[in-house]
Amino acid sequence: MSKVTVVGAGNVGATVANVLAHKDVVNEVVLLDLKGDLAKGKALDSWQQAPIDYYSTKLTGTDKYTATKNSDIVVITAGIPRKPGMSRDDLISINAKIVVSVTKSILKYSKNPIIIVVSNPLDVMTYAAYKASKLNPKKVIGMAGILDTARYRAFLATELKVSPKDIQAVLMGGHGDTMVPLPRYTTVAGIPVTEMIEKDKLNAIVERTKKGGGELVKLMGTSAWYAPGAAAAQMVESIIRDENRIFPCAAYIKNAYGLKDMFLGVPVQLGKNGITRVLELKLNKTETKNLHKSANAVQAVIKKFNKLKLT
Ligand code: NAI
Ligand code: 2OP
Repeated sequence: MSKVTVVGAGNVGATVANVLAHKDVVNEVVLLDLKGDLAKGKALDSWQQAPIDYYSTKLTGTDKYTATKNSDIVVITAGIPRKPGMSRDDLISINAKIVVSVTKSILKYSKNPIIIVVSNPLDVMTYAAYKASKLNPKKVIGMAGILDTARYRAFLATELKVSPKDIQAVLMGGHGDTMVPLPRYTTVAGIPVTEMIEKDKLNAIVERTKKGGGELVKLMGTSAWYAPGAAAAQMVESIIRDENRIFPCAAYIKNAYGLKDMFLGVPVQLGKNGITRVLELKLNKTETKNLHKSANAVQAVIKKFNKLKLT
């Protein structure tokens, strides 16, 4: 038996629940939102899709934490999204309170869940959930790298006129404009991407990726949900099926890449206990410099979070 709770039934949360149900890898998905009827309505709508798309995952909606009892995994999407002109970091004062209170409420009913954080600013909200939960840090993971890498892979697929399935890539760092796509670790069906594309075009794609979230906010007036929801569901799948797949995620770094005791996007393996391994790539000087710049940007927002004294 496996049970997943998704907190926040807005654009991203409802998508996580729906994509997860389509994968049919868990028995039950509980969708929880302050606006209880919204969660109930979206869960019911998704459940009514089951006879059409053939899945058995039971979906229910609620505004009560009692319904989340004994969840194996909790995905936190509660919080406000950014509007045009805002950075993800601008969300901290509101979302920090939400993420801390959601985490504490969840822990009352599920003693040792794995928590996947989606709310922004992502790396700092993952740290906040870790602090508020006091869980083993291997069990608190942030979703960003799968999304950012997917954007990078999609842009490359369009440019190269190949299937996105054939693009493999790694991207590291915080979920912000300082993120670090890694062309040296990018391949097209095993062929180094640098053999397939001119340098200036690749650089332009790297820059577009870094601002990929903002591009969608400009287009839609709010942030994205299809790819983010699918990315979080993919993390759940790897954990539930104990696949140990390798994904870039915001993870606790004890001591790697010259960084200590912080959450940041790095390649990890995800299995039944959460993070089974943090992979340490042999980055060159420039890549390391860029990663440290990104880590410093995250640390600056962590300081703001710590000043709020919420945990
Ligand atoms: P949304 O506004 O559509 O949904 C958020 C939901 O959270 C709302 O339904 C709201 O009622 C609920 N909520 C707020 N406080 C709550 C609480 N204390 N308990 C339970 N529910 C609560 O927003 P959307 O688009 O779903 O985005 C959610 C968050 O995810 C935002 O912070 C956004 O920035 C972030 N995000 C992160 C991404 C990533 O890559 N990590 C990608 C996309 C969004
Ligand atoms: C994104 O990158 C807003 O973080 C969200 O779409």
